Amino acid sequence: MNIVDLSVQVGPLNFRNPILLASGTVGYGNEMSEFLDLNKIGGIVTKSLSLKPRKGNPPQRIVETPSGMLNAIGLANVGVEVFLKEKIPFLKKYDVPLICNIAASTIEEYVECTKILTEEEAISAFEINVSCPNVKEGGLQFGNDISAVGKITEKVKSVTRKPVIVKLSPNVSYISEFAKIVKQEGGDAISAINTLVGTAFDINTRKPKIKNVTGGLSGPAIKPVALAKVLEIKQKVDIPIIGIGGIMNWKDIIEFMIAGSSAIQIGTLNFINPAAPIEMLQSLESYCMKNKIEKISQLTGSYQI
Ligand SMILES: Cc1cc2nc3c(=O)[nH]c(=O)nc-3n(C[C@H](O)[C@H](O)[C@H](O)COP(=O)(O)O)c2cc1C
Repeated sequence: MNIVDLSVQVGPLNFRNPILLASGTVGYGNEMSEFLDLNKIGGIVTKSLSLKPRKGNPPQRIVETPSGMLNAIGLANVGVEVFLKEKIPFLKKYDVPLICNIAASTIEEYVECTKILTEEEAISAFEINVSCPNVKEGGLQFGNDISAVGKITEKVKSVTRKPVIVKLSPNVSYISEFAKIVKQEGGDAISAINTLVGTAFDINTRKPKIKNVTGGLSGPAIKPVALAKVLEIKQKVDIPIIGIGGIMNWKDIIEFMIAGSSAIQIGTLNFINPAAPIEMLQSLESYCMKNKIEKISQLTGSYQI
């Protein structure tokens, strides 16, 4: 029996602790199970799934940057059918909430993916990745278009009873405007943030270090940006937030919760120390005991501004 209650609630979802594993950094959980006990973490978010399998972008797809990394994986994934047949049986062995992240190039594809996956009882919720090119609108990202984000939320909600979390892009002027429309259209929670657009050049060849030219920046470099986005949403919109971006240690988790997150996700850190999420639980408990906090959820939005 824990002395401190580490459990948290994100809308209708309950997690045993606030630490979730971020999309794209743990595959479908199988490789991670060699490094940590999946039954001990708050939840797993799958790599973005699309209707059909995707090969993703050609290499080079990843490059290290000061205090972070750039990636342009291009949403490589096995597709919903293979996921259900080959990946879900492994995940079912664990008692850990499974959140399916969905990527798509049309609104119809988001809806179709959700319709298929919602039948699978092992899936607890959906996380909708709106940082995807909108094929019908000339490749502009859905995540930069408020009305598209609203429409995706509304349509996806109409085909599932499971909670729908919308994962927002930080590459916008006012992220709270996007959170507002998600709430209006019935979304259950926000994940913030996805990666920031960045690039890097090789000074000898003068070519971009990433074949796709630009990639998504993640890691400690983006933590202050992510915290500011979480705070902006918390101050403007009444919707649960899952904070993501540059979390490298337990103190970062506390900081994200103070800024307004109900739970958090670990991304880039999984590539450096995949056992870190478990190691941090003890420190979270000690911090709470030292500060006479009975439930860690009391920290959410407890900033003193
Ligand atoms: C290699 C890599 C692949 C990613 N793939 C996805 C993805 O498929 N879908 C998604 O929503 N986010 C994806 N992300 C974004 C992460 O889930 C997370 O939002 C971001 O990396 C910021 O958190 P971090 O700084 O802790 O890594 C990916 C990130 C990385 C580094």
